[in-house]
Amino acid sequence: MLIPRRPSWTISHSEVTPERVFLNRRKFMAGLALGTAGLCAPLGLSAAFRPADLKELEYTPAPAFSTDEDKTPFEDVVRYNNFYEFGTAKDDPARYAHEMSVDPWSVQVDGECDRPGTYALEDLLKPHALEERVYRLRCVEAWSMVIPWIGVPLADMLKRFEPNSRAKYVYFETLHDPDQMRGQRSLFSTVDWPYREGLRMDEAMNELSFFTVGLYGKTLPNQNGAPFRLVVPWKYGFKSIKSIVRIRFQEEQPATTWEMIAPQEYGFYANVNPEVDHPRWSQKRERRLPSGLLSPNWVETQKFNGYGEQVAHLYKGMDLRQNY
Ligand code: MTE
Repeated sequence: MLIPRRPSWTISHSEVTPERVFLNRRKFMAGLALGTAGLCAPLGLSAAFRPADLKELEYTPAPAFSTDEDKTPFEDVVRYNNFYEFGTAKDDPARYAHEMSVDPWSVQVDGECDRPGTYALEDLLKPHALEERVYRLRCVEAWSMVIPWIGVPLADMLKRFEPNSRAKYVYFETLHDPDQMRGQRSLFSTVDWPYREGLRMDEAMNELSFFTVGLYGKTLPNQNGAPFRLVVPWKYGFKSIKSIVRIRFQEEQPATTWEMIAPQEYGFYANVNPEVDHPRWSQKRERRLPSGLLSPNWVETQKFNGYGEQVAHLYKGMDLRQNY
């Protein structure tokens, strides 16, 4: 276990980061004006991230699962990220995530299930039709986005591995490869790699849990968790683990990354809840990106991120202050 240190995302929510996003957007627009060659140059981003390289996906919109709120612009979704494997600054993932190779990609499935094995991602996806769901993403740091994700219901994917009756939890792990992930080479990292997350089986099987392979109509940019990640929209964003290489069904509740780092601040459940403040800041509202110094764009945070109708029953009888 690592000694808890202050992760960068706990820096007080002065308007420093929004300002950076604001400036980055302006630089991005300036880059656009310079054409593709200049797209990344003004930010110092690698020229290796070219949105044009992302593959188009075929999918059907799922309006029943989608909000009609304004979507966060693509350039914010792909340039303001948390992906500590590539560094702790918000623009580090966009700068460095191209150093990870995502093709081919396979996933190890094991534990309490009847179909364990190592599966190539394309074989996993083959039987499924992709759908688009526009979800709110609420980070524990009190910013949020609205993102059109593309993927398949997590339940449909997990059922194929035939979890048995001892499977009470499902555990996920991100790629651990310091050669490709410079944040994992850092001597100052607070994270005991690999990044780990987990869900109770009934949470994983909930209709909202999403096995995500794309956004804005195309494959996921590396900085957003290519080639596939979870999206669990009623929970703080850190539960939505990226670039997954392992899925394990198990009887015991798994140890998860942020809980391991600071258990008094980040719990296993991590349901979005404006009534339970983080020990060091309020969770009553959030900055909806794009957000700037002069227009922070605060919105009220909703319990379960507004998805209570679909998920509140999962926590009936549970004290959500104890189980934060
Ligand atoms: N997954 C891994 N492997 N590593 C991370 O650092 N950060 C989490 C989550 N998944 C993280 C991760 C956090 S804190 C958030 S808010 C979301 O990813 C951010 O997703 P986005 O960058 O696509 O907006």
